[in-house]
Amino acid sequence: MSDTIIRHVVVPGTFDPVTLGHLDVIARTRRMFSQVTIGVAASLTKNGSGPHFSLEERTQMLRESIVELRIDKGVEIRPFSGLLMDLCRTIGADGVVKGLRAMTDFEYELQQADLNYRLAPEVESIFVMGSPRHGYISSSIVRELALMGGDVSFLVPACVKRRLDTLNEA
Ligand code: PNS
Repeated sequence: MSDTIIRHVVVPGTFDPVTLGHLDVIARTRRMFSQVTIGVAASLTKNGSGPHFSLEERTQMLRESIVELRIDKGVEIRPFSGLLMDLCRTIGADGVVKGLRAMTDFEYELQQADLNYRLAPEVESIFVMGSPRHGYISSSIVRELALMGGDVSFLVPACVKRRLDTLNEA
């Protein structure tokens, strides 16, 4: 077992789009670790047809969001395709942080953590509880609400809301 203190962690996700729930996890992770890399997964096979927003759009929304919320210090953004554990090894991260909102997340995350451990046992899986302030926000709920013309301003930063507003203009 390595006795290295964990300093650099990855907060991975599809971020389709990033929500205030994700950003809360990122901000709290930065309070615990000095270097945080947000890993934006290509997730090309997710939900059959892949993410709604392109990898570039999702990455750009994250860039603007961390600046808007002033949580960009010590936080980098890195798009990736392939395995999360390969990303961790490439950038020298020794932990992965994920947010948990409900028991359903736990079951899924347990499976992922188990697989990731088998792929790279030196990379620690760390979990933080979603803040009750944000409740159970999900990117798919945000997209659905936005497509139906609902107000999403309490779920996403202003820069993401502006992008979502254009969905209905198209
Ligand atoms: O926001 P999401 O879609 O719940 O994030 C899931 C994500 C991107 C963290 C997960 O799918 C992932 O790690 N993808 C990278 C590919 C990989 O490493 N798969 C094996 C781990 S189960």
